[in-house]
Amino acid sequence: MSENTTGISPIISKTVSFVKQELAQAEGGHDWWHIYRVWQLSRRIAAGEKVDMQIVELGALLHDIADSKFHGGDESIGPRKARTFLESQKVPEPVIQHVVNIIEYVSFKGGHNTGGFYSPELGVVQDADRLDALGAIGIARAFNYGGFKNRALYDPAIAPDLNMTREQYKKSAAPTINHFYEKLLLLKDRMNTSTGRELAEERHAFMELFLEKFYKEWEGEN
Ligand code: ADP
Ligand code: NI
Repeated sequence: MSENTTGISPIISKTVSFVKQELAQAEGGHDWWHIYRVWQLSRRIAAGEKVDMQIVELGALLHDIADSKFHGGDESIGPRKARTFLESQKVPEPVIQHVVNIIEYVSFKGGHNTGGFYSPELGVVQDADRLDALGAIGIARAFNYGGFKNRALYDPAIAPDLNMTREQYKKSAAPTINHFYEKLLLLKDRMNTSTGRELAEERHAFMELFLEKFYKEWEGEN
């Protein structure tokens, strides 16, 4: 399957090249194809919202340009890289500032109730990023992450802990199945847009079905 590149403006296609080049060494969960999926989802969600499509697309394409987890926790690298690139492309300052805000706040927990920046464009990109953690792709990404961290698939003796702090959660070496209860199954109630919610419901139902099968097969049933 090749990339869907219909209706792309010059600035967007330049941004695509820039992001591909920047993410050439990225790990599986945040590689170009994660960006590609978030970009496509963002365009689809944005079609039902009153938003500036160019800002949505730039935000989606640049949202993981430098994940601080892989840059010693420095949260300013991504926004700075994006700004430098957009300035080199003579993008107007208000657009640059909005895109930088999206990058800074997209993975902020809690969406629009955080007291930080919020805009409908951020809402779209955040929904798209969350949707890529759900459904078939979400399941694949979770086990890919668990494998990378050498985690067990599942351990009936280790129950999910819904009261962990963010710091405890990051350090926890819990089996990958726990991640579904601690994060993935909670996301459908945190969507910003109606299209996002609809897509999340469907992906959520698929994960529930997956878990049901998983426990049956664990006990040798079908
Ligand atoms: P984001 O895309 O917002 O940066 P993360 O970096 O936290 O999100 O996660 C990237 C992917 O890795 C997501 O699909 C997420 O579900 C998965 N992931 C993160 N933490 C875990 C975990 N503890 N166990 C399994 N999968 C995880
Ligand atoms: Ni992302």
